Amino acid sequence: MTVLPLPPLLLQLALGVVLAAPELREENAVVPPAPAAPTPALRAAPLADVQAMMMEAVSCSPPDEERAMKRLFLTNTSVTCNDGSPAGSAGSRRWLVLLEGGWYCHDTRSCHHRWQRLRHLMTSRLWPDQRNVGGILSPVPEENPYSWNANHVLVPYCSSDSWSGTSPAPTPGETFSFMGALIVQEVVRDLAAKGWLSNDSHVLLAGTSAGGTGVMLNVDGVQELVRALGLPRVSVRGLVDSGWFLDRPPFSPGAVAGPGAGPGLGRALTAAGALRQGMALWRARVPPACAARHRTDPWRCYFGYRLYPTVKAPLFLFQWLFDEAQMTADNVGAPVSKQQWDFIHEMGDSFRTTFSNVSAVFAPACIAHTVLTKRDWAAVRVGRVSLPAALRCWDNRLSADSPMEAPERRRGGSRKHKKGDGGGRVPCPTRHVEMCSWPQCNHSCPKLHNPFTGEEMNFIAVLKSFGLDMLSVANALGIDIHTLNNMDPEELLQLLTAS
Ligand SMILES: *[C@@H]1O[C@H](CO)[C@@H](O)[C@H](O)[C@H]1NC(C)=O
Ligand SMILES: *[C@@H]1O[C@H](CO)[C@@H](O)[C@H](O)[C@H]1NC(C)=O
Ligand SMILES: *[C@@H]1O[C@H](CO)[C@@H](O)[C@H](O)[C@H]1NC(C)=O
Ligand SMILES: *[C@@H]1O[C@H](CO)[C@@H](O)[C@H](O)[C@H]1NC(C)=O
Repeated sequence: MTVLPLPPLLLQLALGVVLAAPELREENAVVPPAPAAPTPALRAAPLADVQAMMMEAVSCSPPDEERAMKRLFLTNTSVTCNDGSPAGSAGSRRWLVLLEGGWYCHDTRSCHHRWQRLRHLMTSRLWPDQRNVGGILSPVPEENPYSWNANHVLVPYCSSDSWSGTSPAPTPGETFSFMGALIVQEVVRDLAAKGWLSNDSHVLLAGTSAGGTGVMLNVDGVQELVRALGLPRVSVRGLVDSGWFLDRPPFSPGAVAGPGAGPGLGRALTAAGALRQGMALWRARVPPACAARHRTDPWRCYFGYRLYPTVKAPLFLFQWLFDEAQMTADNVGAPVSKQQWDFIHEMGDSFRTTFSNVSAVFAPACIAHTVLTKRDWAAVRVGRVSLPAALRCWDNRLSADSPMEAPERRRGGSRKHKKGDGGGRVPCPTRHVEMCSWPQCNHSCPKLHNPFTGEEMNFIAVLKSFGLDMLSVANALGIDIHTLNNMDPEELLQLLTAS
């Protein structure tokens, strides 16, 4: 398991396959908008170009590249990435639709900053023709025991709006478009138009990080859309990976608005402030049921625990109890003080509390962010249950409830976790929340790796990567550095927190 002890945006960078493609560097260099001045939006490629690209993707694919997902642009070319380039999906097999993440930008300044640093999250012009994506999108059974034989559709994130925007470019005074909610809908429309969906299809809308939030925001809309498209019996479900954020007060006042805000940007903003601005900029669409509950504060609908009770489609929630993106958003910093450790400790408790009404949840006590597209995602466990096994239990329960259930049937209350399975079946629970309270406390956490060297890191190394100064810790504790470096992590944690 590769877990990067880094803010999620760097994680996205590390995964950005385009960064290695030499021919794309030139393209990168061709469009250097000045950071301060408004960036002119790129125009959408002429239709002929887009069609040529699709042809290419279809006819020139190497047959041997079994793992590769091919790039496909949306049919509706007026639904675009931030810069007006066509949005799309890299599709090859069947109906797991995965929304990628990468935080968001919330105002002109943060979006231009993002355009400078993270352009691949704003335009499809840098997308390669093919991508290899592992984990739950892998076609290899050993890597993906849960869904190796499903159709896989990867929808790269290029709208910077947590998949909630409906703003076409360019609006007066704004360079970029924000069409995340429309991109999700167009992906489904295209799947239906190509005849790839039928009444017995199951669509699992999955997403990582901001994509996970996007799942909760869009899953009921997708169910409605397939019904409107004449496929009333397609079942639509959601799988949320690391997109369940908390809006508890941050560790330090004036917390950053989130990793996407970048250094020095939005520093004075809370998540609420950033989301308020973002919602206006994106012309955000949140589910009507949630908006109705939070009429004066619709930004609250970006927080899973508030959104979840209003979602009708079945949802499975994966969340690390010590989510790195949450730690970054809370501005907790390198844990060197008791206050910081207490805050992190309480974060785990807060996550657990918000899970109490969630019927299908998997929450290991690890420091990490996202899981689904990591190559050894299947090794993640809570107790003795692996994540793929828990997902299978969820599928079984849903199909046992009703093989082709209409979403209405679920409304009054199958939400609550049913104790036991009844009927003398082998228990197959769908709630798995680690109870031990420290990060990495149960030794079943993914191995941590240094993102730059790939080297495995132990827990102490992770603490160091958060900025823990071991020498001053050793001095403070009155022990030598060698002893400290070789100390059992749990012992060390106890030392660090006892005062
Ligand atoms: C394309 O999407 C836009 C935005 O949702 C919509 O207004 C338009 O009708 C769509 N065009 C087609 C041909 O479906
Ligand atoms: C799906 O089922 C509905 C009725 O249940 C039917 O009207 C529709 O034609 C079916 N669509 C397909 C593509 O089979
Ligand atoms: C769980 O549901 C109950 C009843 O609807 C509600 O009172 C409670 O606040 C919910 N708990 C959480 C953590 O959302
Ligand atoms: C660690 O996991 C095991 C199950 O494998 C569980 O029995 C145990 O209580 C957990 N440890 C703690 C400290 O929660």
